[in-house]
Amino acid sequence: MAPWLPLLSLLGLLRGAVSAPPRRAADAQAWEPVTPELLRPARFALETYNRGRAAGARAVLGAVSGRVRRAGRGSLYSLKATLEEEPPCSDPMTCQLPVSKKTLLCTFEVLDELGEHTLLRGDCGPEDAKVADDRNETFSSFFPLLNKDPLPQNFSTEMVSLFKHFIATYNRTYETEEEAQRRMSIFMNNMVRAQEIQALDRGTAQYGVTKFSDLTEEEFRTLYLNPLLKEGLGQTMRPAKPVDDPAPPEWDWRKKGAVTNVKNQGMCGSCWAFSVTGNVEGQWFLRQGDLLSLSEQELVDCDTLDKACMGGLPSNAYSAIKTLGGLETEDDYSYRGHLQTCSFTADKVKVYINDSVELSKDEQKLAAWLAKKGPISIAINAFGMQFYRRGISRPLRLLCSPWFIDHAVLLVGYGNRSDVPFWAIKNSWGTDWGEEGYYYLHRGSRACGVNVMASSAVVD
Ligand SMILES: *[C@@H]1O[C@H](CO)[C@@H](O)[C@H](O)[C@H]1NC(C)=O
Ligand SMILES: *[C@@H]1O[C@H](CO)[C@@H](O)[C@H](O)[C@H]1NC(C)=O
Ligand SMILES: *[C@@H]1O[C@H](CO)[C@@H](O)[C@H](O)[C@H]1NC(C)=O
Ligand SMILES: *[C@@H]1O[C@H](CO)[C@@H](O)[C@H](O)[C@H]1NC(C)=O
Ligand SMILES: *[C@@H]1O[C@H](CO)[C@@H](O)[C@H](O)[C@H]1NC(C)=O
Repeated sequence: MAPWLPLLSLLGLLRGAVSAPPRRAADAQAWEPVTPELLRPARFALETYNRGRAAGARAVLGAVSGRVRRAGRGSLYSLKATLEEEPPCSDPMTCQLPVSKKTLLCTFEVLDELGEHTLLRGDCGPEDAKVADDRNETFSSFFPLLNKDPLPQNFSTEMVSLFKHFIATYNRTYETEEEAQRRMSIFMNNMVRAQEIQALDRGTAQYGVTKFSDLTEEEFRTLYLNPLLKEGLGQTMRPAKPVDDPAPPEWDWRKKGAVTNVKNQGMCGSCWAFSVTGNVEGQWFLRQGDLLSLSEQELVDCDTLDKACMGGLPSNAYSAIKTLGGLETEDDYSYRGHLQTCSFTADKVKVYINDSVELSKDEQKLAAWLAKKGPISIAINAFGMQFYRRGISRPLRLLCSPWFIDHAVLLVGYGNRSDVPFWAIKNSWGTDWGEEGYYYLHRGSRACGVNVMASSAVVD
């Protein structure tokens, strides 16, 4: 287990929620008395609270009030509830006697996504401590804020030691002491953020320290993600002919020599170029039997439909490759990670493409196409990837909407790990990220928009 995971319980995200400090009393008028709709999440919160308690020591639900906010297919319940709890019994003699029950006042936040409940937070305290709501969550920021939670005495010692480990692992240096302090504070916030993402993941993924842990999410988005992908499909492509054969149970193009080593885009929003070269490398290999590592820098410099490090679209890139006349190799036109003057020379073209196609949005059909035809260029919502370490990621749909696509990558295979179906995804953030540079995303639930922008070059 990662050393920071125990901190989760401190954030009240796990059962047996921590006792909350007294909070300011605030708007009462928004709270409704209990309705059957509110009772379901309240019972779920109670069950979570009681998990692991002995039969005699379980709390029961008293009064409940609450309110609900809806977004998409999810509902967020904020609940106030009293719980009646018998004190734990250590002496069998006195336990025979009737005891006065303890009343706890709790606030819960429960997310309901298509009937699946998740307890986002729970605070319980003695009745007289007046636990009151003073938060104003919206769906974009409903995570609890660190500075509102009681922290353990040694929280900062733990964080300092994690941060030192991070600095050593990733060989970080900071110019000034102030910068180091700032990065450490960002790091601490990110650890909390990673735990929240962890607590809400429905797959097997682990989140925590990565080489991006000292960047704010905003910095990370600006440096590594690709906002252009939000803006639609660019060039229109004809739909691919579907593959008739059913998808084999599993497939991995890495084992068949169709995939080059994981590359590193650096601080440049050029993921679109890596996604496309990865696809063309596979198409060329399957047609010509030769695996060549192809040039992303050629696309960064010479593809005028796209915006170099500011983002791009695979559909535009295919079109640019055709217009230019093909791709040079990585060796001939090496990656620099920033925009330069185009120095493409037709003589050095090693690979051409004849066309490009748009693929099905059905994951089963995508699997069938992949197994028969090669790795696929896709684009996804990169939610959580800044903190991803390993395992199969399956964020809540609400948090990883298919409408916020911001990262292009390459599907290279699929399968199951202990019955959890996954897509194997080649990323372009180096081998010191994820599982040797790869990301694993849940398959069959259209997770993070994995199915919405699948395409391929065609080599005749
Ligand atoms: C709650 O929201 C209102 C209006 O949106 C805002 O004025 C107020 O400052 C917020 N309160 C807190 C504690 O964030
Ligand atoms: C912090 O406290 C916990 C529990 O009291 C202990 O297990 C952990 O080793 C402490 N960490 C440090 C860095 O002292
Ligand atoms: C660590 O970084 C320093 C300066 O940036 C560099 O000289 C050194 O080679 C790096 N060491 C490793 C192991 O990467
Ligand atoms: C595919 O493109 C190449 C290079 O432009 C060309 O030589 C070849 O004839 C094309 N193939 C077909 C079937 O059009
Ligand atoms: C993969 O797991 C899913 C869900 O548990 C299951 O339906 C499917 O049959 C499994 N596939 C294989 C090939 O084991």
